[in-house]
Order: sequence, then C-alpha cells, then structure tokens
Amino acid sequence: MAAQIIDGRKIAEKIYSELHSDIASLKKDGIIPKLTVVLVGDDPASAVYVRMKAKACEKLGIKSDTQIHPSLMTQEAILALIDQLNADKEVHGILVQMPLPGHMNSEKVIERISPEKDVDGFHPISKGKLQSGLDTFMPCTPYGVQKMLEYSDIEVSGKSVAIVGRSQIVGMPLALLLSQKANNANATVTICHSRTKNIDFYTKNADIVIAALGKPEFITADMVSEKAVVIDVGVNRVDAPENEKGYKLVGDVKFDEVSEKVRAITPVPGGVGPMTIAMLMYNTVKAAK
Ligand code: GUN
Repeated sequence: MAAQIIDGRKIAEKIYSELHSDIASLKKDGIIPKLTVVLVGDDPASAVYVRMKAKACEKLGIKSDTQIHPSLMTQEAILALIDQLNADKEVHGILVQMPLPGHMNSEKVIERISPEKDVDGFHPISKGKLQSGLDTFMPCTPYGVQKMLEYSDIEVSGKSVAIVGRSQIVGMPLALLLSQKANNANATVTICHSRTKNIDFYTKNADIVIAALGKPEFITADMVSEKAVVIDVGVNRVDAPENEKGYKLVGDVKFDEVSEKVRAITPVPGGVGPMTIAMLMYNTVKAAK
C-alpha cells in the first residue's frame, strides 16, 4: 500500500501562521525581527538555500539582509564582520551559510557568533544547552524533523528511531533531541554511520528511520519495515540530462520503491527542506523576543 506522504510545505505554513501573531506583537513594541545571512563563495546549492531563507523572511515581514562575499574573503574579515553584526542592535539572528571555503576554520567562525544571535543552533553553547535539556536555539533541521512528526501525529515516545548519518548539523543533534526527556521525544535512538556493520539490521527494526547521510537513494525498500515512518533529510543533485537544468534533486531514500512499502514518508523536495526554513524563522522570532 502506498505510504502517507508527509507534506513539509503544509506543515511549514502552519508554523508560519503561528508566528504571525508573535511578529505582530513584537512590531507593536517597535521591534522588527531581523536575520542577517552571510554567504561566502559561489556554491550554487548554498545560493539557492540563502535565497529561500530571504524569501521566507519577506513573506513573514521579518527584515533580512543577505551578505554575499567572494570565496577569497579572509578568516580575519569574516570574524570582523561577525563582530560588527554581534554589536548591531537591529540584527537579532546571524546565520553563516555552510560549507565555508576550505581556507576558513568553520568552528572558529561559528564560535564568534554571539550565542544570543545563534539562530542556527551551531554554537558550542547552544549545543551544550541542548545536551543539558536547557532552553536554547534548536538546530533548524533536527527541530524541523521533530515538528514534522508532531504535526503529523506520529508518536515518538517509546519508539525506536534509527538515524543514518552522524553529522554535527543533523544526525548528532537530532539523536539528542529525540531521546531527551521531553514532549515529542523520549525515543530510543540508534545512530548508524559509515562504520556501522549491517545498517539494515537497525533500519529494519526501527519504527522511524531518518536518512541524513548525504548519499543519493541509499535507503532502499528492503532496508525498512512496512510499519516504518521514513524521514528523508538528504538533498542530492544527480545528473538528469532529460531535465532542462541537467540535474534533479533526490533524497537519501529511494522514494519510488520505499513509498510503496512504508507507513509514511517525506518527499524530496517538499519534505524536510521547508521545515528547516520554518524553524529558522521560528528561531529568528525567538531571538527578537
Ligand atoms: N548548510 C546546510 N544546512 C545548513 C544550515 O542549516 N545552516 C547553515 N548555516 N548552513 C547549512
């Protein structure tokens, strides 16, 4: 039987409608939330993401400023820019789009962002607070995945979750988020990665499978059970000469066959991607508050 398709665009719209009243009451107090996005270099995928973030701000009445710098920008220059944005009272959220060019030290750049403006949730203080169960900026993609499950009435508490991929942006923080003692969490989480033996043992036995490893169509139908809910975080450009652009976007899940088998699944595009942006808007409003 075909799976329920979890529509990230629809759920993101719900998050936006909830944010409208918060933004209106901030405006009554003379505060307009503002997000500054810093992009270094000309990675085409990053350029698309940055444009989508600016568009979401515009739609919600959040001020946004996208600063695009050449890939030759020095580490000193980006640190100086962050200092300036930290000191700017009009800027509530700062996002430095990853990946940065190879000559930059990403950790040092992230550490320079004031934790009060860290709407990405990447700063070590934000990560430490998440690990300690304290209020903080949750990283946008993991938080978006949690919200998708919540708004789709998919129980997480007591369920077994297999996360494939252990990145600092998705896999690791998502494992913390879903296993903590809190609402829409309390799951038993396994993180699978490139050294895991028999990944399919874990994915087949999981109630919720989350693919976040960055390998096109890695998760196949034989790796999941019929009762599984499958969340696809991957966005991969693969060659498609038949398309005008010469490429198409696919997730980390082989959608056509997996969607014929499982209980529910997120599409790519239109799944987790819109949720990441919605949670960035949520964090920017939180920062302004
Ligand atoms: N690159 C890929 N995902 C993200 C994200 O969530 N935030 C930033 N800053 N860069 C990214």
